[in-house]
Amino acid sequence: MTDTIRFVLDGKVQEAHGVDPTRTVLQYLREDLRRTGTKEGCAEGDCGACTVVVGELQGGVVVYKTINACIAFLPILDGKELITVESLSADGALHPVQQAMVDCHGSQCGFCTPGFVMSLFAHYENQADGETATVCDALAGNLCRCTGYGPILAAARRMHELPQAPLRGKMPDTITRLKKLQRTNDLALSFTCPLTGTVKRYVAPHSIESLALLVAEYKDATLVAGATDVGLWVTKQHRVLETMISLGDVRELKTITEKNGALEIGAMVTYSDAINALREWNSDIGELIRRIGSVQIRNSGTIGGNIANGSPIGDIMPAFIAAGATLTLRSGAKSREIPLEDYFIAYGKQDLRPGEFVEKVNLPPAAKNLFYRVYKLSKRFDQDISAVCGAFAFHMKDDVIIDARIAFGGMAETPKRAAACEAALTRAKWSQETVLLAASALETDFAPISDMRASAAYRLKSAKNLIMKTFLEWEGHERTRVLDMKATANA
Ligand SMILES: Cc1cc2nc3c(=O)[nH]c(=O)nc-3n(C[C@H](O)[C@H](O)[C@H](O)COP(=O)(O)OP(=O)(O)OC[C@H]3O[C@@H](n4cnc5c(N)ncnc54)[C@H](O)[C@@H]3O)c2cc1C
Ligand code: FES
Ligand code: FES
Repeated sequence: MTDTIRFVLDGKVQEAHGVDPTRTVLQYLREDLRRTGTKEGCAEGDCGACTVVVGELQGGVVVYKTINACIAFLPILDGKELITVESLSADGALHPVQQAMVDCHGSQCGFCTPGFVMSLFAHYENQADGETATVCDALAGNLCRCTGYGPILAAARRMHELPQAPLRGKMPDTITRLKKLQRTNDLALSFTCPLTGTVKRYVAPHSIESLALLVAEYKDATLVAGATDVGLWVTKQHRVLETMISLGDVRELKTITEKNGALEIGAMVTYSDAINALREWNSDIGELIRRIGSVQIRNSGTIGGNIANGSPIGDIMPAFIAAGATLTLRSGAKSREIPLEDYFIAYGKQDLRPGEFVEKVNLPPAAKNLFYRVYKLSKRFDQDISAVCGAFAFHMKDDVIIDARIAFGGMAETPKRAAACEAALTRAKWSQETVLLAASALETDFAPISDMRASAAYRLKSAKNLIMKTFLEWEGHERTRVLDMKATANA
């Protein structure tokens, strides 16, 4: 065990001892290191002013990802490289991203600028193109109140025209330094608050066995995955977390296994790491993932964290419940598997026993006769929480629905299947009449609430409309399929 956090910063190993494990990377940078280039806007992962880049060794190269420093706890940097806006011009010359921002007048008050620069830097390092759609996606988690996005988008194109900077991820020195920092033992931090005397403990186990032992021993511990929910408990709700167990170093929880089209997704797999496999499973799920938070949030936030948190407006649950997913829960050496929908008992109450944790979520193969759709309705397209999220999975035989699974988020106190609606559709022929019957059955299934995201009436009406939308898309899909078959037959 060790109590020192070690990471690479500007080519040197930086050590942090005796720090509060819930100190954020942003607080550490600004208050301890006095590196004030990284800014605080919202302290809740929304504005991107605090964006920094974290490099992690993967397959012999360093992979760079943006994160929101305002909600990331400092210990997550252990064994990684941290790049801040100061790092980019540490040698005195501006990085092409910075030069492009200057050339294109991409900054006015400058408050958001370091965050934009870091998002563009990660984009540059990952050799992503300058296409507007990809750049907009990369910048969706960065807000600017004065410049307007035109000059920033121009800078994103311009940075590729300037003399190129060497890619850092392939630099042998960085790789060597990071290799030396990789540990085989657990990081274990203990901190006593000098003002209150509160003792805080943080452990980052390396194996699933070690995690299982710790969860069994410290039953009241807070499990921390990507901290995109937990971070806000500290920064916004000022909660004191006394014992934390981090899942971030548990290799077994970071894998996705594909077997004959079925996916097993470890609880610590981030959205960014899951998106390609999920897009393969179904393009609508891929698009849903792309609309979860921002790149920064998707680089940290996990599918396991979304499920474990059990929010009624979390996006993964309706999508995965309709898809027929199951959840594997582990306690000690034992695992149990339950249908995902059974995990959500009531608001804030899940079927998680003391000493248990979410190990993985399992998606069955997408059958050939499956017609699947998922829709997210939110006030803003990007970086917004759903008002309603509806997912529809129909196993079809010609135009008869053999089996229907429908799940909604934002319609009840938990993510929930629409039992009456499913019953109205099962074994029925897809037609406008059936759809209208199924839509009215939603009134039996749900009595949604009104809140800041949407009124109850809006929620119910849009849920009904989503069924109609699914039907219309099925009709379009069928028409295209029949035309394709005719074209193949005539060829
Ligand atoms: C700016 C912003 C935008 C967001 N946008 C969206 C959005 O569009 N859609 C959406 O659905 N969510 C969104 N979220 C919420 C959040 O990102 C997700 O819920 C995310 O998936 C949580 O995962 P995490 O790894 O960060 O979990 P954490 O914050 O680490 O943990 C969340 C909860 O799960 C528990 N937990 C984590 N892993 C396990 C495990 N393996 N076993 C048992 N318990 C566990 C933790 O103890 C905690 O209670 C957003 C959050 C922010 C800050
Ligand atoms: S300060 Fe706004 S996202 Fe971090
Ligand atoms: S330049 Fe002022 S907020 Fe973006």
